[in-house]
Amino acid sequence: MRLALIGYGNVGRAFARLLERKRAAFPFRICGIHTARHGTAIDPKGLPIDPPFGPAAPSIGEFLDEVKAAVAIEITPLQPATGEPAISHIRAAFARGVHVVTANKGPVAHAYHLLDAEARAAGVQFRFESTVMDGAPVYNMVRNNLPGVGVLGFTGVLNSTTKIVVEAMCDGRSLREGVALARRLGIAETDASYDIDGWDSAAKACALANVLMDARVAPASVEPKGIGRLTTRRVQELAAKGKTVRVVSRAERTSSGVTIQVKAETLECTDLLAAPQGSSNLLLLHTDLMGTIGVVSIQPGVEQTAYGVLSDLTDIARAE
Ligand SMILES: NC(=O)c1ccc[n+]([C@@H]2O[C@H](COP(=O)([O-])OP(=O)(O)OC[C@H]3O[C@@H](n4cnc5c(N)ncnc54)[C@H](OP(=O)(O)O)[C@@H]3O)[C@@H](O)[C@H]2O)c1
Repeated sequence: MRLALIGYGNVGRAFARLLERKRAAFPFRICGIHTARHGTAIDPKGLPIDPPFGPAAPSIGEFLDEVKAAVAIEITPLQPATGEPAISHIRAAFARGVHVVTANKGPVAHAYHLLDAEARAAGVQFRFESTVMDGAPVYNMVRNNLPGVGVLGFTGVLNSTTKIVVEAMCDGRSLREGVALARRLGIAETDASYDIDGWDSAAKACALANVLMDARVAPASVEPKGIGRLTTRRVQELAAKGKTVRVVSRAERTSSGVTIQVKAETLECTDLLAAPQGSSNLLLLHTDLMGTIGVVSIQPGVEQTAYGVLSDLTDIARAE
């Protein structure tokens, strides 16, 4: 199955490495890669992990026309204010009858219902497991394993970078040093202020609410409160009292619709929501038939995001 990658940064490269490792088991071939500054690489026979980039294709449409892929993988940076240009990339793929897998939560946070309808009209699939909790199954778990279950709300600690920053501050380092550490691990957003100020968490919460709760929400309505004003001293004072800080995302169905709150909360270290360390994440789904059930991902890295992409692809390939 031919693949076209739009974006080839941390996730794209981890995905290419994963395919290389599992080549015997999965019949996928990366035939095109399009980036912002590195240019475009196309080879119908399949590209190596470090492809020879040539000049950038004039447009996404022309790139997709040349690659003739069955699936486009959209892995450009998050733009929490608009979801673009990823939304346009996805539409360009649908317009050509190409399935889409994305790890970019922007399109799901901004335009899930529209894109889902457009994918159905085009007879293609739109999948996005890696947008929240990296590769840990959340959307697929609800879709495949919880038939008839209504999601009434959720509580999540969904952003890895802020946890790494808080831990670094607890060890006496600065917020900036913590961000540099998350960047080295390949898990910070391209613009890490989206992590620090809560926009990544807001986009994830909106994506979850739109898909699992049939909400019509977008990040701008969330007004997230992140950890931008937190100091090393404050984190150490809290630690001395057995407390810590986590950016917590909460969603609830009310009579006026789904409300979402994203804010840095001071928690007892013994609180379940304080338990995820480092890049670990936790999501609790509050449901009508199954009470509260959770998904935990312990120290995921970009390899797990790549796996989420692969799991979506496998589903698409099975249905073909
Ligand atoms: N990293 C993680 O752990 C993780 C986890 C879950 C989800 N995600 C999501 O996955 C996506 C990718 O993350 P990443 O860490 O791989 O980002 P990244 O390392 O910054 O890479 C982004 C890639 O997108 C390319 N790009 C930027 N604008 C583009 C455009 N307009 N058209 C085509 N290509 C464009 C860049 O091109 P150049 O190479 O030329 O700059 C680069 O190759 C993001 O949406 C992120 O939120 C990431």
